[in-house]
Amino acid sequence: MDSIIVRGNGPLKGQIPIAGAKNACLTLMPATLLSEEPLTLTNAPRLSDIATMTELLSSLGAEVSSLQDGKVQAMSSHNINNHVAEYDIVRKMRASNLVLGPMLARLGHAVVSLPGGCAIGARPMDLHIHGLEALGAEIELKDGYLHAKVPGGFKGAEINLAFASVGATENILMASTLAKGTTIINNAAREPEIVDLATCLRAMGAQIEGDGTSRIEVQGVDRLHGATHPVVTDRIELGTYMLAPAICGGEVECLGGRIELVGAFCEKLDEAGIHVEETAKGLKVSRKNGRVRAVDVTTEPFPGFPTDLQAQMMALMCTAEGTSVLEEKIFENRFMHAPELIRMGAEIEVHGGTATVTGVERLKGAPVMATDLRASVSLILAAMAAEGETIVNRVYHLDRGYERVEEKLGNLGAHIERVKA
Ligand code: EPZ
Repeated sequence: MDSIIVRGNGPLKGQIPIAGAKNACLTLMPATLLSEEPLTLTNAPRLSDIATMTELLSSLGAEVSSLQDGKVQAMSSHNINNHVAEYDIVRKMRASNLVLGPMLARLGHAVVSLPGGCAIGARPMDLHIHGLEALGAEIELKDGYLHAKVPGGFKGAEINLAFASVGATENILMASTLAKGTTIINNAAREPEIVDLATCLRAMGAQIEGDGTSRIEVQGVDRLHGATHPVVTDRIELGTYMLAPAICGGEVECLGGRIELVGAFCEKLDEAGIHVEETAKGLKVSRKNGRVRAVDVTTEPFPGFPTDLQAQMMALMCTAEGTSVLEEKIFENRFMHAPELIRMGAEIEVHGGTATVTGVERLKGAPVMATDLRASVSLILAAMAAEGETIVNRVYHLDRGYERVEEKLGNLGAHIERVKA
């Protein structure tokens, strides 16, 4: 397993390109199952999760060609010859469950392994299942697999999501595009990745309104055609790299960044004393005068503060002036970066879903362990401003969601190198 060695450095300077969104691409790729015609995604990120989704779609019989060094994913699911999404692929990446809705819509049956829990939580699928059942699916859990069928095809329905689940909204939205009649999704997730999926589905001929709001309305159509769609900018990579100059000082321009993707996050940065300026190319970030101020954060569904930026924000709060309270309301176990930051000298107390961080002057480098995708990058951010050297182990977590992190941060002046296992 590779490790990444980081040595504390001074202010950062330069530009950093923001890639296409992992969490958009992972729902856009299964959409190819909805049509016999080719779906091509441009601005795709080069990540191991995308390779895993490629492996899954290929196992179902889809053709996926990764072009232009992975920035283009040309897909065709003309010959789907397998309707089983195997456990050994699904367990690697929970988003594999997003093939369920499209497969049912296209084939009328599907067998999809339950993903099982992951480091940050149990990750159940009850909201996905209830939504698809409302559209007419019959779903049974057997031997860890969901055995699903929809005799006669999906029929439109009004669905009320108990929680604004991103994945459930995506599975139901994709399924409803080929349902007979109208589907309403109430309390739908409002993330930019949902809007991106709806935009792609409309390009394929779907009739969808209200995406980006909590009420989405879909008029089912008989079939969808092919399309070419650009993956939306990754707001979580954007927020992550906006924190690099916030933590280290200096000034960094995040190319492709847009304020509307990170609204609530930027409000918290402003409160903490970080300056964000919109430029013609993206977002330029620098510290205002003096030390970063501690701020309180509560994670919420979009447009609230994203749970996927909680760990990275904690890294900033470790050396802020004052005490910060971070509340994690989306996942039940998303503070595993805290013990690792404590090893670096951070003062953090975790009680259930609340972490209280008392800022210290400076952290000290130490060997630390990556535990999940966003926790691992928070350790890199903290290490860049720490005294001495930090070794981050198990960086395969990092490679799931951040392309070429050591190159991108190294170009800004960070002292960061990968050590091959
Ligand atoms: C998506 O996961 C993202 N992943 C996550 O990003 C992100 O943290 C999450 O949305 C919230 O924004 C992808 O898009 C691939 P949810 P998803 O369904 O769809 C509970 C990252 O780091 N829930 O909105 O799984 C669930 O347990 C990843 O890039 C149910 O109870 O998130 C969780 O507590 C991590 N029943 C909460 O809802 C269900 O049927 C949010 O889950 C579904 C979800």
